[in-house]
Amino acid sequence: MPSILINGVPHAVEADPETPLLWVLRDHLTMTGTKYGCGIGQCGACTVHLDGQPVRACQTRLGDVGTAKVSTIEGVSGPVAEAVRAAWRKLDVVQCGYCQSGQIMSAIGLLSGNAKPSDAEIDGAMDGNICRCGTYQRIRAAIHEAAS
Ligand code: FES
Repeated sequence: MPSILINGVPHAVEADPETPLLWVLRDHLTMTGTKYGCGIGQCGACTVHLDGQPVRACQTRLGDVGTAKVSTIEGVSGPVAEAVRAAWRKLDVVQCGYCQSGQIMSAIGLLSGNAKPSDAEIDGAMDGNICRCGTYQRIRAAIHEAAS
């Protein structure tokens, strides 16, 4: 039975290696902070980190995770994650909230590799994260806030 490391905790998962990581998280481990939006890699709601890099959990097979460290919205940690969470609260970014765990995971990924992104860099990095409420301006402002 494969074991994967999620938020620093090993989890034995009995599932076909082809199973999308999104279903492993949500259905096998009841970690429902990672959201299902489209299932085809187009919306970003399912964004998690593999070894610190944002990936779409709906497009990542269990068998491809291997020894990579998985981080999800429930457990992502560190100074960048804390700054992003604080900025999201301060600027009251969330409207309905459905896409926001994916937005936050992408924002942490961006700021982890680029401490002071420009508007264009933010827009480029966040391009794959769709928000039907249209919170894009607040997301951009919160990323600048977290970077300050
Ligand atoms: Fe994975 Fe939309 S649910 S990108």
